[in-house]
This record gives sequence, structure tokens and C-alpha cells, in this order.
Amino acid sequence: MLDQGAAPPTPDPQPSPAIGRRLMRRKPVELLVAEGGKGEGGTLRRTLSMWQLTMISIGATLGTGIFVVLGEAVPKAGPAVTLSFVIAGLTALFSALSYAELAGTIPVAGSSYSYAYATMGELIAWVCGWCLVLEYGVSVAAVAVGWGEYLNELLAGTIGVTIPDVLSAPPGDGGIFNLPALIVVLLAMVFLLGGARESARANTIMVAVKIAALLLFCAIGIQGFKSGNYSDFMPLGMAGVSAAGATLFFSYIGFDAASTAGEEAKNPQRDLPRAIMLSLVIVTALYVLVAAVAVGARPWEGFTDSEAALAGIMKDVTGQTFWGTILAAGAVIAIASVVLTVLYGQTRILFAMSRDGLVPKAFSKVSPRTGTPRVNTVIVSLFCGVLAAAIPLGQLADATSIGTLFAFALVNIAVIVLRRTRPDMKRTFRVPLAPLFPLLGFAFCVWMMFSLDVITWIVFGIWMAVGLVFYFVYGLRRSRLATHGTAEVPSPETPLEK
Ligand code: ALA
Repeated sequence: MLDQGAAPPTPDPQPSPAIGRRLMRRKPVELLVAEGGKGEGGTLRRTLSMWQLTMISIGATLGTGIFVVLGEAVPKAGPAVTLSFVIAGLTALFSALSYAELAGTIPVAGSSYSYAYATMGELIAWVCGWCLVLEYGVSVAAVAVGWGEYLNELLAGTIGVTIPDVLSAPPGDGGIFNLPALIVVLLAMVFLLGGARESARANTIMVAVKIAALLLFCAIGIQGFKSGNYSDFMPLGMAGVSAAGATLFFSYIGFDAASTAGEEAKNPQRDLPRAIMLSLVIVTALYVLVAAVAVGARPWEGFTDSEAALAGIMKDVTGQTFWGTILAAGAVIAIASVVLTVLYGQTRILFAMSRDGLVPKAFSKVSPRTGTPRVNTVIVSLFCGVLAAAIPLGQLADATSIGTLFAFALVNIAVIVLRRTRPDMKRTFRVPLAPLFPLLGFAFCVWMMFSLDVITWIVFGIWMAVGLVFYFVYGLRRSRLATHGTAEVPSPETPLEK
């Protein structure tokens, strides 16, 4: 049971007859923070350092986007794909600033879902949490699909065999079942069941390997650099650049993963903002470098075989399969660490939503032995594993991006709202030039969303409709704010506190 003893005084239970007011009820920031770590039957453990938090964010970010999706983006933008990375990076940067401020102020596992709950009310928080399932849960599946592609590359380069399409591709992509994708998700589940600290240690090693693999790519790829490959810099115009930017936004998803570790960090208020910003700077630098080298080494029209593009370039430049195989090995480890950390994030977000009563209690049960939400971890892993095994990467990646952009847009608004409603709160990090930067972050997110194709919007619409049905049938009545009467019901005229 949750211990509410530590919570600060809260307003008297309020009858909330009007549906509008129920949808707008907000969770007091102090209550969010006071509940930190507490689950059903146990508590999460505070074991993660600032270094490990940074590695979690890099771990969650650097993976399929640069190793696989880059190959799909180059045909859209040509050599200007480097610019697409900058645009996607700017979108991520403004949102990262907002995340950093909120993670330092409300350091809890629910990340943007909890920030929305404290600022914009329950319905928007639910919508945000539902989008986070796209950002985290569906991206685990997308990333796992990319893992299978590099695994085959590695197997071909080492033992000369590959897993046949029928067992390594989903229906629609020439196969029946993507077995490697399922395997990598189950492996990550085993780590996560062992504990957050153990998972973070494994992740740190994997992050070191993936950074080394990308630097190796740059060192070798630069030897095949031909400036002529840049002569037609923007062959498909600005529309192509922004479409590629929207696709590549996928590669930045994950910098916010540290914020889901708010209840397991040793010093969350100080370390979360630093970890988020530091990880974003490191991955952006690597992305622009790798993209510049890749399009310098291979004419953009040659990026038609999107699978394992970087390994292919290594082979072309050296004329030997050996280096391509080394890169494939690095990618296999790299992408596995994304699966591990993103799966971690998804379990923690559902943990927070379950504690609030919006999803079933099973998700906030904590094992007293390992201090991890075990049932939650198993359910989420099976869901993601089956999705990864059955759906093609492109569709998953775009669905992930639109959900994430929506959640990021809300985080930018949440900064502005919390500054207005709770100007008194201690902020260990402040977005510079607010509200300009959060508004720019919001505008970039909306722009990126409109660069995605119609099918993605339709998938998103269906996803949101399903989520809303679930909320009205389940969450609205079971919300702890309804059952415990601890909501703040805002009136438009009166800010919460000054
Ligand atoms: N940003 C993560 C990746 O590229 C999702 O794999």
C-alpha cells in the first residue's frame, strides 16, 4: 500500500460532480514527490549516480536511428541529411531544456506524464502517458527490429550464415516472425528483473562499446570521403530535408530516459537535468559527425539498401568485410542497450501511472527482494517482444516519433504552466529565455509532427482513440485522486499558489 503519511497537507476531499472538473483535476507536486519510490508491497532503490543516469539517456538514444534509420533518411534529403539531423536536434534541444527543468523540479518516475498531471490535469496527463507508451513501448519494438538486421550482418561476416527471412522479418516484410527482435527484448527483460543498478552497469559497458563503434566508423569512413558527393547538397529541396528530419527525430528519442529514473537516482534534483543535457550534447555531436562522414563516403543515391548502411560503407571503403563485421558487432551491442534502457523507462512510467490508479495495480507491485517492478517488467517485455516480432520497422519508427513529439510538445507547455502556477518552487535548472524557448520547443514539435505522413497520423488517431476509451472506462473512476480526494481542482482565475 502507498504510505501517504509523508505527504504534505492536501486539500479536503472534494466532491467533483462535473465531468469537466474531474478531467482537469491535478496532482499536487508535493504529493508526487512524497510518493517517490513507493509501490505496492515495496520501494524502488536509490542507487543511480549522475554518470549512470547520463549513460541511461545515451543508452536509450544512440541506436537504431543512427545505425539503421539514417539509411532510410538519406534518400529523402540527400547530403543535406546532416542538416536534417541539426533540425531534429534543435527540436530535441528545446524540449530537452524543458525536460531538464521539470525533471529537476518534479523528479519522479512518470516523467512527462507526471509533469502533465501536476500542471494540466488528469486527462492531458493520461493522453501524455498514452503517448509515452508509443515513445517507449513501441520504440522498443522498432529498435529490436533494427537489432535483427545487424545481427544478420554480424552472423554473415563471422560464421557465414544468416537467419532466413521467414524467421527474421515480420509479415509484410517477407517473413512470418522476427525471432531476433523477440530474443533481444527477452534478454533485456532478464537484466531488468535483476535490478536497476545491475542493468545500469551493463548499460554503461554497452554505451562505451557503441560510442567506440561510431568513432571507428568515422575514422575509417573519412578515408573514403569525396567532396563531390556533396556537390548537389539538397537535391530534393527543403521539403526533403524536413521530411528526413522528422524521420530522424527517432534517433533523438531517449534523451529523456534519465527522467524516468527519478525515483531511483541518488540525487535526482541535481543530477537529472545534468544527465539529460549532457547526453543530448554527446549524441548530437556524434550524429552530425557520422552523417557527414557517411554521405561523404557514399553518394546519396547509393543509400537504397537501408539495412545496416554503416556496415556497408565500412566494407565499401576498406574493400574488406572484416571492418563491416566489427561495426555490425558494435551495432548489435548498441541497439541492445537501447532496448534495455527504453524498456526500463516504459516500466517506470507505467509504474507511476499505476500508482495513480490509471492503469492496473499489477504495474506498481515492487519485489522487496530486488526492488524492481517485476510483474510490470514481464508484461511490458512480452507486449514489446510480440510487437517487435510482428510489425515492420518503418511503421513502428514513425508511430514512435509522432507519439514522442506530442509528449514533448506537452512538456514545453508544462514548463510555462508550472512557472505561472508555482513560481515559488525550487528549480535546480531553469530553461533560459522562458517562455520563448519552451514556445519554440512546442512549435518545432508541431512542425515535425506535420512533416510525418498521413498513414502515421491515422495510426496515431486510432491509438489515441483506444487510449481515451480505456481512460473513460477505467482510469477516470479508479484514479487515486478520485478515490482519495487529493486533487487540486484549478479554477481559471486562481493559480494554485503564489
Ligand atoms: N533513439 C533511439 C534509437 O535511435 C530510439 O534507437
